[in-house]
Amino acid sequence: MLSKLQIAKDLFHRWQDVFICPICGGFVFLSKSSLKCPRNHQFDFSRKGCIRLLRQERSLNDDFYDLKLFQARRSFILAGFYDELHKEITKILKKQKSPLILDLGCGEGTHLHTISKQLKDATIIGCDLSPKGIQMATDYLKDNYLPIVADVNHLPFKDSSFDAIVDILSPFMYQEVLRVLKPNGIFIKVSPTSSYLKEVRTIYGLKEYEKEDDVLNNLEKHFIKIHKKTIENKYPLTEKYYKDLIYMTPLMHHEVTKFPHPIKNISISLNIYVIKKEEQ
Ligand SMILES: C[S@@+](CC[C@H](N)C(=O)[O-])C[C@H]1O[C@@H](n2cnc3c(N)ncnc32)[C@H](O)[C@@H]1O
Repeated sequence: MLSKLQIAKDLFHRWQDVFICPICGGFVFLSKSSLKCPRNHQFDFSRKGCIRLLRQERSLNDDFYDLKLFQARRSFILAGFYDELHKEITKILKKQKSPLILDLGCGEGTHLHTISKQLKDATIIGCDLSPKGIQMATDYLKDNYLPIVADVNHLPFKDSSFDAIVDILSPFMYQEVLRVLKPNGIFIKVSPTSSYLKEVRTIYGLKEYEKEDDVLNNLEKHFIKIHKKTIENKYPLTEKYYKDLIYMTPLMHHEVTKFPHPIKNISISLNIYVIKKEEQ
């Protein structure tokens, strides 16, 4: 069986043309267990096939994005709370032939890994700033799924590389999205409605999400032809998934032991914006 490191290197070899050096923008090539550019910037793979393609070392606040948070997210996603979201995204992506897809802020990778099982001949590259998230995402590393540490503000990819970009509840920079998306490529942005997780938010007085109108207004400033679909579901919540939910919510996960299990249902309500990049 191939090692994770070998699988990651093979994938880079196959997709070498879409990557650029995050420091100087030059082309990159594989050299033993590293990626290098002609200016000698070097990025090493770990034994697990992890690589950091960052302009400079940047880290997130690890108090928020720790391993426990990503484990809870994975457990909660695998339990089926986002199945309808996965179905909707799959429907959109199925229209493309052999697409190369970028998952922006992929976290531990379960969303797009789940979706990829329904897509024929698709290749997914996941990127996230959190090494812990990407380390977990390498569990899914295989010939059509490659996670890397990268910053959504400085993507290490050539212009017009991707057929589709998916962003689920993560930050993005519109210039970078437009730059790396192919003409006619599709950007799928998922953001919370005001009802998303409202049961926990109300009880614990969490601050509101960005207003839905503001999200749309911001998208409209930079993109044309935005199609919006809202999904709305209420699921029963057992104690186990209540704990996962609290752990996966960055602002709350230190508090979990203090709280009993006060809610029986949870609302998963999300807006899916689908945007097509116009041909220039
Ligand atoms: C709410 S989580 C969503 C993760 C995943 N999409 C999901 O739904 O499970 C937000 C993610 O954005 C990532 N993130 C935050 N700033 C980032 C940046 N500048 N570049 C890449 N990822 C970033 C975090 O590490 C985190 O994994």
